[in-house]
Amino acid sequence: METRGAAPSYPALVGSGLIASTGEEVAKRLRCPRCAIISDTNIAPLLADRVKQSLTSSGFQSTVITIPPGEKSKTLGQAGAICDQMIAACLDRQSFVIGLGGGVIGDISGFVAAIFHRGIPHVQIPTTLLAMVDSSIGGKTGVNTGAGKNLIGAVHHPSLVIDDLDVLKTLPQREFNQGFAEIIKHAIISDAEMFDALKDVDLENLAPLIRRNIEIKSKIVTKDEGDRTGERALLNFGHTVGHAIERAGDYREFLHGEAISLGIVAACDVSIKRAGLPRDQRNGIVDLLQKFELPTHLPPNFPREQIFDALQYDKKFEGGKIRFVVTSGIGSAHLSSEVTVEDIREAFDQL
Ligand SMILES: NC(=O)c1ccc[n+]([C@@H]2O[C@H](COP(=O)([O-])OP(=O)(O)OC[C@H]3O[C@@H](n4cnc5c(N)ncnc54)[C@H](O)[C@@H]3O)[C@@H](O)[C@H]2O)c1
Ligand SMILES: [Zn+2]
Repeated sequence: METRGAAPSYPALVGSGLIASTGEEVAKRLRCPRCAIISDTNIAPLLADRVKQSLTSSGFQSTVITIPPGEKSKTLGQAGAICDQMIAACLDRQSFVIGLGGGVIGDISGFVAAIFHRGIPHVQIPTTLLAMVDSSIGGKTGVNTGAGKNLIGAVHHPSLVIDDLDVLKTLPQREFNQGFAEIIKHAIISDAEMFDALKDVDLENLAPLIRRNIEIKSKIVTKDEGDRTGERALLNFGHTVGHAIERAGDYREFLHGEAISLGIVAACDVSIKRAGLPRDQRNGIVDLLQKFELPTHLPPNFPREQIFDALQYDKKFEGGKIRFVVTSGIGSAHLSSEVTVEDIREAFDQL
């Protein structure tokens, strides 16, 4: 079944066994004869051959390019090295890029697609839950620099997203669980019904949940394509403190979704004070995060002071003002200018 991704509208296919029809699906939409399949060295041995075979049987020529797994690979240097390998493989402006992997691969392959010959089509085959429900939607691509995450990038929407649920079978449990932090975030900011449904979600049949999350993110992104109206900023719920925790833990202590889980708890505590969030709803959110084995307390030895330092790096502190996303009740969120640095500090002191 086809769900529409964000504007400009593109299909996001969600189902089982879809990788086998990659070539067929691409052929319906792109006339480019050649492509690079960009992946990491964990995922390529599991999936690249199947993607390649499907492309070959639909008449496409493909070259597999791999990079080491993990955030450390999301650099301008690595993007340049990929471009060099694409040139060496005779790829040109008639070519396209497939990103086969999690959010790291989605972001760097999308960035390469945005800059190679000033932009060629990008097809995303997300292989993590987080990438399916979040990073593959919205067109944000990019790489990190020594000064921070995602500081260099481009908006480049994919032509097609293929979410094959079978690929999640090899995903490590912790990686799987962290996807639920973004799903719970989506529920809190815009879908109270999904929040309730998550309490006994069927893990054997994730397709409806993934489709729903694609719709939520797409709708928000479409309303605020240029990141100007503040609508898109709602997707940052839990991220102000979450990013600071990631940074304070040197990006090693917590996975992104785990840090966001903690950030959500902090944002709920701020919301009780500044947006009238009922305490029982805050407790319901904490229970749901715990159901997916996501952290809701900081470990005792965590360098708490560094969270505060890291907060200063956050883009939401523009012009000395804090744009903080709060919820006054599950299912809706808004940007508040009432939140003070002390409120945030109080909230993470409770973590
Ligand atoms: N562009 C956006 O809008 C956006 C939004 C959210 C996050 N992101 C980015 O996404 C990245 C995080 O993505 P992620 O959490 O998917 O991490 P990831 O891409 O690093 O993948 C996590 C780990 O799981 C492995 N893996 C992936 N799929 C697998 C599978 N099916 N089987 C076995 N192992 C598998 C990977 O090799 C990696 O080691 C960050 O760089 C973040 O900035 C981007
Ligand atoms: Zn996130």
